[in-house]
Amino acid sequence: MQKLLIVSNRLPVNVDTTGDEIRIIPSVGGLATGMSSVSGSYRNLWIGWSGLTKGQTDEKTEKAIEKELIAENYLPLHLTQEDLDGFYFGFSNRTIWPLFHYFTQYVQYDDNDWETYQRVNRIYADAILSAACDEDMIWIHDYQLMLVPQMVKEQKPDMKIGFFLHIPFPSFEIFRILPWRKEIIEGLLGADLLGFHTFDYQRHFLSTVRRLLGLEVNFNEITYGHRIIKTDIFPMGIDYEKFHGAALEQKARAVKDKTKVQQEMEKYILTNPEIKLVISIDRLDYSKGIEKRLQAIDYFLDHHPEYLEKITLIMITVPSRSEVPQYKQMKSEVDELVGRINGKFGTINWTPIWYFYRSFPFEELVDLYSTSDIALVTPNRDGMNLVAKEFVATKTDKKGVLILSEMAGAAREMAEAILVNPNNMKELSDAILTACEMGVEEMILRNTQLQDRLQRYDVKKWASEFLKALTKATDNRPVLGGTKITPQVETEIISQYRKADTRILFLDYDGTLVGFKNNPMKASPDEELMQTLEALASQANTELVLISGRDKETFDQWFPGKPFSMVTEHGVWSKKPGQEEWKLLEYISSDWKMLVRPVLEFFADRTPGTFIEEKNYSLVWHYRNTDQELGLQRAIELKDELNSLLSNFNLEIMEGNKVIEVKNSGINKGKAAARFLRNKEYGFILAAGDDWTDEYLFQELPNETISIKIGAAKTRARYSYADFRNMRNLLNQLATE
Ligand code: UDP
Ligand code: G6P
Repeated sequence: MQKLLIVSNRLPVNVDTTGDEIRIIPSVGGLATGMSSVSGSYRNLWIGWSGLTKGQTDEKTEKAIEKELIAENYLPLHLTQEDLDGFYFGFSNRTIWPLFHYFTQYVQYDDNDWETYQRVNRIYADAILSAACDEDMIWIHDYQLMLVPQMVKEQKPDMKIGFFLHIPFPSFEIFRILPWRKEIIEGLLGADLLGFHTFDYQRHFLSTVRRLLGLEVNFNEITYGHRIIKTDIFPMGIDYEKFHGAALEQKARAVKDKTKVQQEMEKYILTNPEIKLVISIDRLDYSKGIEKRLQAIDYFLDHHPEYLEKITLIMITVPSRSEVPQYKQMKSEVDELVGRINGKFGTINWTPIWYFYRSFPFEELVDLYSTSDIALVTPNRDGMNLVAKEFVATKTDKKGVLILSEMAGAAREMAEAILVNPNNMKELSDAILTACEMGVEEMILRNTQLQDRLQRYDVKKWASEFLKALTKATDNRPVLGGTKITPQVETEIISQYRKADTRILFLDYDGTLVGFKNNPMKASPDEELMQTLEALASQANTELVLISGRDKETFDQWFPGKPFSMVTEHGVWSKKPGQEEWKLLEYISSDWKMLVRPVLEFFADRTPGTFIEEKNYSLVWHYRNTDQELGLQRAIELKDELNSLLSNFNLEIMEGNKVIEVKNSGINKGKAAARFLRNKEYGFILAAGDDWTDEYLFQELPNETISIKIGAAKTRARYSYADFRNMRNLLNQLATE
């Protein structure tokens, strides 16, 4: 049976070693519930940190814990204190967490932390590689493990790898600050499917991929080497039935069977029938907006004295990452604020804020949610925020009001909540007032819609939708280009080449023999390439043709007197070895340039970094050096403009690699290449090219041609290579006969 490997920083269990026996206590987290719901279709294995550091227990206990966990399908990783310091407290929570939540002032850049992050990500990747088979599905979770997808993909290209980011993906302007930005993106691009909570996070990610790596992005798909990587939105839900059911059950219980928390709250409501209970639950984290929330309560009580003694905030802050300095500092700030507000407004009978610094078990959490009138969920930034959803799920009578920050991912799906900007004190205070005064009918209306959605798209649905998308993305892995050239295919090509009595090679230049440079004139041939080309052209019964969109002047400058043929401007000019003059293959006019040049100039002026290249019979607009998104947008505009302008001319608009070229139609590399084959038979024909203009070549040449597309894209070529370096490697082998 196919396995599903779930990989997260921590295992969803707590290991209790305090008694005589080792106890494995599953934690209540939503992720674990979501996963258990899909376990029917797969054999699950969960890989993650056990929560224990190496040396914390003796070796015997460590082994015993491992045995217990493995029996429950958990593969525990034991990290050292040093690992945790650099990886968890360091890079994950002092670099990535603040950066991705837009707290740039807290971001620490530490090379050692980065080193440890890489090393520990490798530990997770190695665990996957030793536990998984090729056909297994791997689902990696969250910002602590962003390098793992690539580390696994490198070793096992066929493995199905999904990644879900549970926190926001920030705008490119924020992400680009990171010194290791490329490595992080490349790490993530090891996945076949990347999931985000919201459209904005996905949008930011795609824009980053485009702008940072210059990769091609079509809708939500990224072309990366030979692969297509899918991205999609999967807003994480909660275990709705569990929360709703627990709230129903609690209501049905006899008073004596209720939790202590519930009994206390009911007593309080009985003696204060007018009281509005406001609940606030978060990890103690600066992203959660806890201080501003307290300030808003202060503001509200100042401005609405009619609510003194009539509103109580139950504030639960769960200890979190307390070894990170900002978290430590925040704890004392919150303590102080709570003290100040309680001191300022409190009376003998009333404390405005009940403050708890600890976590609560599930039953009590449900009691707190279901008994409160209002939930105040006002993070500065939050990937999703499940507390908001859990509160709504427990409202079995649909009475209750959710105040929710626009900055939480959950706000995208919960438009019926009172949405607020957490930085606007007055708006927050007004929202509290609106919530206090909201009529029952309106509450029911809002909660009915909210609950319907939460029930439909719960955590089980979330997990199964993600896995369905991963299966789809990997089962029908789109094959880009022709067959990838494996070492065996390469050997076969070389053998055919050696056996043939006459041979001809058509080679495109840019992107096929050399990489792209920001300035096209800098892409001149290097010494090694020159030697390879000369060696090939000097072999007996071998013809070499460089066939390019370049102009003839450039090729004359780069390849003076070389023993091979050259075709330039996509087939306008040709020159054979030993010839002095270029031969015009097609008679054409270039009068149209007068009309087109001003249009291209207009675009070049408006798009910084772009420029115009003028060839004898064509005009080219280059946009490699501008912002990738702007370039693509302008390219679309330019094509539109040219199409309407050129409808009466016999011209063609060609889209190359980050260029748009206007030239006379009917001239192409295919036609030019065919001339070489007119009067002679060849036992071996090879053609290689990287862009759209080379497709004419692949189309025109005989079926037995070894046609090779460089890079990933749809093509007519039989074979493909990822990169120009692979092509050069093949040519080097052919050259050393
Ligand atoms: N939670 C808990 N015990 C507590 C308080 C909270 O188990 O005492 C849970 C809560 O039910 C929710 C999760 O912690 O499922 C918090 O998730 P959320 O998305 O709101 O924030 P995160 O902590 O992931 O940033
Ligand atoms: C957020 C993160 C999770 C993390 C959780 C608790 O929800 O997205 O990856 O597990 O907070 O944080 P902690 O540092 O305690 O694991």
